[in-house]
Amino acid sequence: MTERLTIFEVGPRDGLQNEARQIRTADKIALVNMLSDTGLTKIEVTSFVSPRWVPQLGDATEVMAGITRAPGVRYSVLTPNLRGYQAAHSAGADMVAIFGAASESFSQKNINCSIAESFERFAPVLEAARADDVPVRGYISCVTDCPFEGAVAPDAVADVAARMWAAGVAQISLGETLGRGRAEAVDAMLAAVLAEVPAAGLAGHFHDTGGYGLANVAVAVARGLRVFDAAVGGLGGCPYAPGAAGNLATEALVEWAAEQGFKTGIDPVALRAAGAFARRLKEGDDDL
Ligand code: HMG
Ligand code: MG
Repeated sequence: MTERLTIFEVGPRDGLQNEARQIRTADKIALVNMLSDTGLTKIEVTSFVSPRWVPQLGDATEVMAGITRAPGVRYSVLTPNLRGYQAAHSAGADMVAIFGAASESFSQKNINCSIAESFERFAPVLEAARADDVPVRGYISCVTDCPFEGAVAPDAVADVAARMWAAGVAQISLGETLGRGRAEAVDAMLAAVLAEVPAAGLAGHFHDTGGYGLANVAVAVARGLRVFDAAVGGLGGCPYAPGAAGNLATEALVEWAAEQGFKTGIDPVALRAAGAFARRLKEGDDDL
C-alpha cells in the first residue's frame, strides 16, 4: 500500500498575514473555498489574534463565517490566548493552534511574553479546548534559527517540545521560521526533539527563503515525520520575523511527494488553479 503524506495547508493564514496590502475578505474566502476543492484535508484559515498586531487578519470571524465547509476538511485557526480561543470556537473552528518559540527574543517580539509566560497563556486554551473536544496544534518557531539570536540549540527546541507535548497538544509543528536552516541543522534538531516526542506527533513547517524547504522535508521524512505544512503559491512569512519569506509551496510538495511514491490525495490541477489565484492576490490584481 502506498504510504500517505499529509499536507497541512497554511497559505490563507501564514501567507495572508504577511501581505503589505489589505486583501478583501471575499477573496480570502474564495481562496479557502478553492483549497477545499483540491483534496486537502487540513486548512489553516486565519488567526484570532490582536488586530493591532496583525491587521491583515482582523476579519477572522467574517472569513470563518463565509467559507463553504467541505466534508472531510478540518478548518484550523491560530489562537494565542483564551480570548482568541473563545472567538475561534464560536466561529466553529475544528482545530486551533497555540504558538510559541524556542527562542526568548522571538517569543517576546511575536507574542509579547517570555517562553515561560507563554505556557501560562496556553494552559487555559488547552483546558477549554479539551472541554470542547477541539484538538490543539502547537507551533514552535525558530527551530534552527532566530532572527534576533542566530542559531538555536536543538536542546532548546526539545525542551519546549517536551513541555508542549506534556501539556496535551495533539501535534507539534516545528517552525523553521526563517527558511535559513540547512538539512544538517534540521536533522540535529529532529534528533533532539524525537527523544521527547514521537514522530507521529510531529509536523514540519519549513519556510523556503533559501530554497531548502524540500531538502528539509526529505530529512524529516527519513526521521519518520509524515505531516508537513505548506502554503499554496509559496505564500508566507511572519510580520515579526524580519527576513522570513514564503513557506514551502504546496504545489512543489505535492509533486515531490508523488515522485517519492507518497500519496497525498491532492489534485495537482485544482491546486495549481488555487495557486494562481493566491499569487494574483499577492500581486494585487484589482480585476479579481
Ligand atoms: P499583548 O499586547 O501582550 O496582549 O499581545 P494584551 O492582552 O495586552 O492585548 C493587547 C491588545 O490586543 C488589546 O487591545 C487586547 O484587547 C487585544 P487594545 O486594548 O490594545 O485595543 N487582544 C486581542 N484581540 C483580538 N483577539 C485576541 C486578542 N488578545 C488580545 N485573541 C498577543 C499579546 C498574543 C495578543 C499579541 O502579541 C498577538 O496578537 N500576537 C500575534 C502575533 C502573530 O499572529 N504572529 C504571526 C503568527 S506566528 C507565525 O507566523 C509563525 C508560524 O507560522 C510558525 C513559524 O513559521 O515559525 C506559526
Ligand atoms: Mg510560518
